[in-house]
Amino acid sequence: MKPAVILYKSLPDDLRAKLDAHFTVTEVSDISPESVKQHAAQFQQAQGLLGSGGKVNGDLLAQMPALRACSTVSVGYDNFDVAALSQRGVVLMHTPTVLTETVADTLMALVLSSARRVTELDAWVKAGQWQASIGPQHYGVDVHHKTLGILGMGRIGMAAAQRAHFGFGMNILYNARRQHSEAETRFGARACDLETLLKESDFVCVILPMTEQTHHMIGAAQLKLMKPSAILINVGRGPVVDEQALISALQDGTIHAAGLDVFEQEPVPADSALLKLPNVVTLPHIGSATHETRYGMMSDAVDNLIAALTGKIEKNCVNPEVVK
Ligand code: GLV
Ligand code: GLV
Repeated sequence: MKPAVILYKSLPDDLRAKLDAHFTVTEVSDISPESVKQHAAQFQQAQGLLGSGGKVNGDLLAQMPALRACSTVSVGYDNFDVAALSQRGVVLMHTPTVLTETVADTLMALVLSSARRVTELDAWVKAGQWQASIGPQHYGVDVHHKTLGILGMGRIGMAAAQRAHFGFGMNILYNARRQHSEAETRFGARACDLETLLKESDFVCVILPMTEQTHHMIGAAQLKLMKPSAILINVGRGPVVDEQALISALQDGTIHAAGLDVFEQEPVPADSALLKLPNVVTLPHIGSATHETRYGMMSDAVDNLIAALTGKIEKNCVNPEVVK
């Protein structure tokens, strides 16, 4: 008999067919308590869970006694209580490789649009305001040959450094627990402590996951260390930056601008002061959202679940210690 799985994300037909070939699939809209209640028997029997968005914690695990593997269509797994999963012997699979280049592209898009005010001036042109002349009040700041500081020197950080160094002649700083000799050799990247990185970077790029250690790692004190001309970019997770402190820093000129793909609360509340600031470029958490990469992530997530439940796990596992 094929293992039963819960799918909480709609998949393209070919990937759905692949999943159906291996599993008995119940597709649900989400994994909210209401949805679990509505499909209680299917959640009880399911050995696998595949999707993205929605909390997977002790409460959900209690409703899923047969669960053996979760497969998230994301690299980040802050929605999952990994300790609770590991304790229950449930493996967690994610998609850490396929989205690397796309998220690095998004990071550069935010660097360029915040420095050169692309979205602000686009709105200005479309509002028919280009009748008057262009003056210094419309100028941006250069990107090329500036200093890019990377917090979170993983795969995405490496891909961003490559773009910044070879494409824009930028100097690269990074702060990490371990030394990245490849980044140093290939991109001339320089390791430094957080304080130095904040003081010397023209662009401070947050690519960190959300953990207890990274929560509000960038707060008022850290923003104060940045240059008044510096720009903060966040494509990691919103809560790594203290958003109230960021708003104040952007309002009072402590820093120059910000480019944000992630927020403390998502969707960002409509009344957030961030949405009223001209020096903020916002995106709706779409760092990996291209047609090609989202397909690749879903495809990897399907393969990950197949490996976890019917084959052998060789990669993409968050808690491999569970696999005995
Ligand atoms: C996106 O934020 C992801 O974690 O994949
Ligand atoms: C980054 O998005 C992560 O959570 O690893």
